[in-house]
Amino acid sequence: MMPAMRILISGGTVVTASDIYQGDVLVEDERITTIGTDLKVPADRTIDARGKYVLPGGIDCHTHLDMPFGGTTSADDFESGTIAAAFGGTTSIVDFAIQYKGQTLQHAWETWMQKAEGRAAIDYGFHMIITDLKNQVEAEMDTLVREGVTSFKLFMAYPGVFMSDDATIFRALLRTGKNGGTICMHAENGGVIDVLVQRALAEGKTAPKYHALTRPARAEAEATHRAIAMAEMADVPIYIVHLSAAEALEMVTEARDRGLPAFAETCPQYLFLSYDNYEEPGFEGAKYVMSPPLRPRETQEQLWRGLAFNDLQAISTDHCPFCMKEQKELGKKDFSKIPNGAPGIETRMSLVYDGGVKSGRISLNRFVELTSTSPAKIFGLFPKKGTIAPGSDADIVIFDPTKTWKISKKTTHMKVDYNPYEGREVTGVTETVLSRGRVIVDGGKFTGKAGSGNFLRRACRMI
Ligand code: URP
Ligand code: ZN
Ligand code: ZN
Repeated sequence: MMPAMRILISGGTVVTASDIYQGDVLVEDERITTIGTDLKVPADRTIDARGKYVLPGGIDCHTHLDMPFGGTTSADDFESGTIAAAFGGTTSIVDFAIQYKGQTLQHAWETWMQKAEGRAAIDYGFHMIITDLKNQVEAEMDTLVREGVTSFKLFMAYPGVFMSDDATIFRALLRTGKNGGTICMHAENGGVIDVLVQRALAEGKTAPKYHALTRPARAEAEATHRAIAMAEMADVPIYIVHLSAAEALEMVTEARDRGLPAFAETCPQYLFLSYDNYEEPGFEGAKYVMSPPLRPRETQEQLWRGLAFNDLQAISTDHCPFCMKEQKELGKKDFSKIPNGAPGIETRMSLVYDGGVKSGRISLNRFVELTSTSPAKIFGLFPKKGTIAPGSDADIVIFDPTKTWKISKKTTHMKVDYNPYEGREVTGVTETVLSRGRVIVDGGKFTGKAGSGNFLRRACRMI
């Protein structure tokens, strides 16, 4: 038996969703084994964390690595995307496998497992996107839940590609009532949006800003309301992904006030960017073409309120990067052909710390809860992930709350030719990162290994 590899993180401020205290954390092999004060134990390496926060590794429960979409493929694969995630303080992701029409869920899962295997540098799980819910596919949902793919994404948008009708959605919701899975919903009224898009194009409105102008907030609110109503009738929880509009948040808040298990995430782009970005000159607005689109600036404060008061439970990135060159450019003459999505896997923790904690909008504990603990609980990873406790995986971020970072294409590692936050200065930077006890980011360098991330066999929802 090899003796355990021991790393002692000493003198830092340990922060979890519920506690803040000065402490030493002992890591043996892949796990946290001891937490105390002034621990005097021999270690292979001691990391001096004085003046730093010792945080549970970030969990990004919404990413799209190596994803074919809009006639191209997202620019980060599982290697570049997870390395970028690590630099930004994220140690686990839950990505999306896609079942295309006519395929089995098993085939889709295997396809995405192959994309990740040998490449991912941090641990990863999958949600399953369902686009073709035949009877035997419904039965397959149960198998996947048993295998650790315990959540499913359905779309109320993108007719003819991803969209499911209400009957299909309702059947999937009912099935999760039996198998313990969770339905994640892309809530936008795809039928209405399609008509608006066709009308805009017929009127010669082809610029990127028309992407936003043809996807009204009410189309998101209506679908959010309908999704929650169907979940209520099926008597199951529901999780709304990438919520962007204040009108949609109202629907979630109303449902939660009635005691319904309605959950929702938002993303940094909706907290820091706005419709104004689509008005940038030339084709620049294409950088921000994503669905749902960016909303009026005033929405940002309403989303922060939702985060502070637990009407929103998680901040994920919806990282889905496409380069301007050759990818976003596909829609130069027609906004509806711009691949939807933007990069963000690396910048989430610093943006949210700076805009949330430093600006006084959320507490330090809430920051940890939104970026790690709550996603871990909702998606069946807690307490293995999402906290700092004896027995938990040693996924640890040593975070310097005083250091500043000018976000730029040049200072990030995502494989995309622009950064939506170019030039923005944030305070609060990830310094050192441990993934299951291995130091994978150290002194500004990636010291991990592509392929050392493990597949996360997730349990069912816990809240
Ligand atoms: O524009 C977006 N959000 N692209 C990724 C796919 C999705 O709907 O999440
Ligand atoms: Zn979506
Ligand atoms: Zn997405």
